[in-house]
Amino acid sequence: MSRFIFSASLVIALSGATTLARAADVSAVAELARSSGCYSCHANGEKVVGPAFAAVAQKYAGQKDAAADLAQSIQNGSTGKWGRIPMPGHASLPPADVKRLAEWVLTVKP
Ligand code: HEC
Repeated sequence: MSRFIFSASLVIALSGATTLARAADVSAVAELARSSGCYSCHANGEKVVGPAFAAVAQKYAGQKDAAADLAQSIQNGSTGKWGRIPMPGHASLPPADVKRLAEWVLTVKP
């Protein structure tokens, strides 16, 4: 076991620890989105009840306060930005998780 851990960390060290750590973080947020029920209304690449996350990323690309605005929408709900169906608020999600989700949505590609 310790041999495995040793060789695994060697591989990580050799292949660029920051890139891997970032990739691991992205999938952790995707998992958070799944466990928070976001995928019951959203998909990455196509509209379901709500807009595709990739479409959200595209719409807000380059906007300075995008992450804060999206965090606001996720936490408190959103109406009229994408159509007539409103998104209910997610009052029970911790604000730190909402912030991570908002930042992550902005990175989703189709
Ligand atoms: C009950 C269905 C539903 C659920 C669950 C849901 N959404 Fe939404 N979402 C929507 C709809 C509908 C819209 C479009 C609202 C509008 O037009 O303003 C939307 C819009 C958004 C937007 C764009 C907001 C904006 O300001 O443009 C983001 C980002 C988003 N959702 C993220 C999430 C995340 C993250 C979760 C999980 C915590 C989630 N949604 C859960 C239905 C949902």
